[in-house]
Amino acid sequence: MTSSSAYLSDLFSLDGRTALVTGGSSGIGRAIAGALARAGARVVVVARRPEELAATAAELTDDGCRAAWVSGDLASRDGVRAAAEEAAAVFGEPDILVNSAGINLRPPLGELGEDVWDTTMAVNLEAPFLLGQRFGPGMAERGFGRIIHITSQQAHRAFVQSGAYGVSKGALESLARSQAEAWSPYGVTCNTLVPGFVMTPLNTRLSADPERVAALAARTMIGRNGLAEDFAGAAVFLASRASAYITGQSIPVDGGFSVH
Ligand SMILES: NC(=O)c1ccc[n+]([C@@H]2O[C@H](COP(=O)([O-])OP(=O)(O)OC[C@H]3O[C@@H](n4cnc5c(N)ncnc54)[C@H](OP(=O)(O)O)[C@@H]3O)[C@@H](O)[C@H]2O)c1
Repeated sequence: MTSSSAYLSDLFSLDGRTALVTGGSSGIGRAIAGALARAGARVVVVARRPEELAATAAELTDDGCRAAWVSGDLASRDGVRAAAEEAAAVFGEPDILVNSAGINLRPPLGELGEDVWDTTMAVNLEAPFLLGQRFGPGMAERGFGRIIHITSQQAHRAFVQSGAYGVSKGALESLARSQAEAWSPYGVTCNTLVPGFVMTPLNTRLSADPERVAALAARTMIGRNGLAEDFAGAAVFLASRASAYITGQSIPVDGGFSVH
């Protein structure tokens, strides 16, 4: 008889896998990096600020996980390329790529300049594209891979000056479908997790307004706003063998925000 832990391990364990998590030093990315590491993966977190990166890796290492960090700016193509090479040199080529690094600059569309447009597209869309180009073909060759993008409800609807941000997230969901089409036949699934409103440093300004926070919580079915930890289970699932037949999908993790 198979024990339940052996069964669960067969479905969900990430033992022996290597993961690269962009934005893995804060918010949703940090929670996902922690979840993948605790599920057995060797994890490299990539972002700009060294202190936050080092603190994340230290927390995981102290917990008995294998984790490392690379500081890099994903707003430029050269920055993405350099960070990718440095990250792959730590534990080897990744089996799991999570694109959580993102920025939300909110000028109203009428005031939105080309600089904001370019930076938003560079971090939120081009970096995931370039990292996919760098690592997707290798995953396909090895017969296993998981690409997970973090998009937004703003991929589907306008919300608090979605401006360039919503556009970048809509395109990122399309990118996931293109990647799924290209690499799913070779064991590489590509999906997106779609947050609603999550209490992270990205939302400091909005989170400081208790009335707005309560109003947003009331728009969910569960009755509260999201926490970074809410993404742990969904990320482990999408990174694991258990999700092998799910690809090209956008999966909301939003407490029901998007369904009413
Ligand atoms: N919080 C929400 O309500 C919400 C809702 C919908 C979607 N999302 C999406 O979820 C993802 C994670 O957001 P979060 O709320 O966890 O935000 P967060 O706490 O602000 O984390 C963002 C992460 O991205 C990194 N980053 C930003 N710009 C970067 C750059 N140029 N190069 C490298 N790394 C960069 C940050 O580190 P450094 O600053 O040190 O570089 C940080 O680790 C984002 O893609 C966001 O769009 C969040």
